[in-house]
Formats: sequence, structure tokens, C-alpha cells
Amino acid sequence: MRIVLVGPPGAGKGTQAAYLAKNLSIPHISTGDLFRANISHSTELGKLAKSYMDAGNLVPDEVTIAMAKDRMEQPDAEGGFLLDGFPRNVSQAEALDEMLQSGGMKLDAVLDLEVPEDEVVRRIAGRRICRNDSAHVFHETYKRPKQDGVCDECGGELYQRDDDSEDTVRKRLEVYHTQTEPIIDYYKAQDLVVTISALGKVEEVTQRAMDALKRGD
Ligand code: AP5
Ligand code: ZN
Repeated sequence: MRIVLVGPPGAGKGTQAAYLAKNLSIPHISTGDLFRANISHSTELGKLAKSYMDAGNLVPDEVTIAMAKDRMEQPDAEGGFLLDGFPRNVSQAEALDEMLQSGGMKLDAVLDLEVPEDEVVRRIAGRRICRNDSAHVFHETYKRPKQDGVCDECGGELYQRDDDSEDTVRKRLEVYHTQTEPIIDYYKAQDLVVTISALGKVEEVTQRAMDALKRGD
């Protein structure tokens, strides 16, 4: 399957993507994670991306599209993928369509996670991520690690993202509404959008997502 996951910052895209990708046996491709990996390796791309991410803005399309294309062309993505955080505006969605069409492929679904803004803010404020693996995501209230500051899965150090400060989150939400939400209409025109509520326990949301993808509603 080829799926796009869309939703505001903090909706739980990364959390759900980890489970959905496993259930569906497809790789989880997160442009945010790819940028953060470049930042931690101090690459030129990482240095460029950091300046935009810290301000809550989108990284320019040219570099983002090239990076996403390169990742989607890896052998493990041949049979499908779950895109998390890409596309993030209409020109990225158009570029993705072109990429897929040139390979004779198409998307199966766009899964839209709906969460009220006050919940998004609570989720982001308490989020803690493992330094060893960005798929190890915790929350200081909703998903507490057994030991403060230590990842349950690998013992790695938990940290708070630089772009999770209150001001930057506000900016990221604004960017989501103005630039990313329009892709939902873009994909509605292709009859691809499946909307679910992302409220409730993590496993309830995963089940809701799996059911909705099966039904295709
Ligand atoms: P990115 O990394 O994609 O961030 P985001 O879209 O802002 O999303 P988040 O990672 O903040 O949230 P999430 O929805 O994954 O939530 P999570 O699962 O962690 O992008 C970061 C930046 O990179 C962008 O601002 C931009 O600069 C750049 N970028 C990335 N892609 C780009 C692109 N295509 N073009 C241009 N620039 C791009 O969950 C949040 C918290 O809630 C966690 O603590 C979790 O434990 C908790 N939680 C999750 N589910 C539940 C639940 N059901 N109940 C209670 N708590 C829950
Ligand atoms: Zn870990």
C-alpha cells in the first residue's frame, strides 16, 4: 500500500506511523525524521533544514522533494510506503503525483488524523523522544517511561525537540492551517481521503486507522 498520513503537529502521526507501518509491512518514511537525522550528522542539508525547522517554517520544496524522492526510491519502498509529513503543501503533492505516475504507481489512501488544537498543544508540550531512535516516542503524562528521561525500549536518553517550544509550535500550527490543510482538498478531489479522530488511546487510534483503511472510507 502507498499511504500519506496527514494531520497537525502533535496529532500522533509518528506514533501511529510506527504501528501502522509494522502492521502493513511497509517502511515508515518521515521527512521530519530524515531532516533530524541530517541535523544530528551535521550535514549541509541538516544545517539548512535546522534554520527553517527551528523557526517553525517549511524547509524549501526543492531540497525536501529531492530528499523524499531519494528515500522513496530505496529498495525497501518498492512495494509501498507510509509517508509521514510529506507532502506538506500543494506543490509537494503535485511533485509526488508526478513521481508516482512516472513509475506507474498511485496512492491508495490519505489518512487524515483529526485532533482539537488544545490536545495537540498538550501532546507536544509533554513529548520526549529517544536520541537513539526517533520511533521511540514518549509523553510525560500520556506515555511515561518507566524511568524519567530514559527510553524503555533501548535505554537511550530522552530529549525534547528544539522546535517544541511554545512560540514555534504556534508557528507550526499556523503553517499547517495555511499550507498543509489545502492538500486535504487536493486529495479529496482524487477521492483518497480517509478521516479519523486521533483522540483516545494510541492502540484505539491504530485500530480505527486500520479499520478505516480496510473500508477505504
Ligand atoms: P515533523 O517532524 O513532520 O513534525 P510535525 O508534523 O510538526 O509533527 P510532530 O512530529 O510534531 O507530531 P506527530 O504528529 O508525529 O506526533 P507524535 O506521534 O510525535 O516536522 C518538523 C519540521 O520539519 C517541520 O516544521 C518543517 O520545518 C520540517 N519538515 C518536515 N517535513 C517537511 C516537508 N515535507 N516540507 C517542508 N518541511 C518539512 O505525538 C506527539 C506526542 O503525543 C507524543 O509525546 C506522543 O507520545 C503523544 N501521543 C501520540 N498519540 C497519543 C494519543 N492517542 N494519546 C495521548 N498521547 C498521544
Ligand atoms: Zn530508544
